[in-house]
Amino acid sequence: MQRKAIGVIDSGVGGLTVARELMRQLPNEQLIYLGDTKRCPYGPRTREEVIEFTWQMVNHLLRKDIKLLVVACNTATAFTLEELQEELEIPVIGVIQPGARAAIKVSQNKRIGVIGTEGTISSQAYTKALHGIDKSIVVKGLACPAFVPMVEDGILEGGLAEETVKNSLHPLKANNGIDTLILGCTHYPLIRHLIQKEMGEKIQVICSGEETAREVSLILAYQKLTFNGDDKPQHEFYTTGDLEKFEKVANIWFEEPIEYLKPVI
Ligand code: SIN
Repeated sequence: MQRKAIGVIDSGVGGLTVARELMRQLPNEQLIYLGDTKRCPYGPRTREEVIEFTWQMVNHLLRKDIKLLVVACNTATAFTLEELQEELEIPVIGVIQPGARAAIKVSQNKRIGVIGTEGTISSQAYTKALHGIDKSIVVKGLACPAFVPMVEDGILEGGLAEETVKNSLHPLKANNGIDTLILGCTHYPLIRHLIQKEMGEKIQVICSGEETAREVSLILAYQKLTFNGDDKPQHEFYTTGDLEKFEKVANIWFEEPIEYLKPVI
C-alpha cells in the first residue's frame, strides 16, 4: 500500500518511549511525532485544556494524512481517547488499556500500583481499565508530578533525580503489598531504572510502550494498513518547544541522533 505514516502525539518527550517501541516492532513503518513541549506538563492542566491542546495536535497530524493515531500520553488518553475514537475516521490507540493488560498478565497477587500525573490518577482511568478486565484487582494510585518536568529537562540520572524519585515514591512503598507497578505516564520509562531501584527488584515495572506497539501492529494488519513496500521510513519529529532540549532527550533515548526535527508554532 501507499506510504502513509503513523501519527504519534504527546505532551512532550515522553511519547518517544512509545515511538522507540513502534520502530522496533514495526521497522518498515514511518512515524510522524509531535510533542507539545511548550505547554508540557499536561498533568496539572484542566480537562478542557488537555482536550483543546490534544485536538490541536491531532488536527496538525491529520493534515499530514496519517493512517493511524497513537495518543502516547496518558493524560491525553484519559481525557480524549473516546472522543477521538468516535470522531476520527482512522484508528486511534491510547496507552492506558495496553498498560493495564500488560500489568494483569504479570501480576500474581492482583495488587497493582499505578503512578502517573495528577490528571491521569484523578481520572481513575487505570482503575477503570483494570476493573474492566478483573474487578477483584486492588489498585493503588499515586500522582508523581515532579517527574515530568525533570524528564523534560533531561535530568535522567544523578543525585537530584534519585532524591526526587525516592521522595515521590515514598507513599507507595509503605504497606501496599503490590507486586506490579504501572508507569502510567510515558515520560516515566526514561527514569525506569531509578524507579525500579527505589521500588526493589521484586516489583514488576510495566511500561505500556511494548503492548501499545503490539496493538498498533495488530490493527494495521487487520485493517490492511501495513506498509509492505521497500523504501526505508523517514521519521519526522516536531516539537512546539525548544529544539535543543527535545533533541537532547531524543538522542539519549534512541542512542543515535534523530535526523528530521522541526519546530511547530
Ligand atoms: C504530562 O504532560 O503531564 C505527562 C504526559 C503523560 O501523562 O503521559
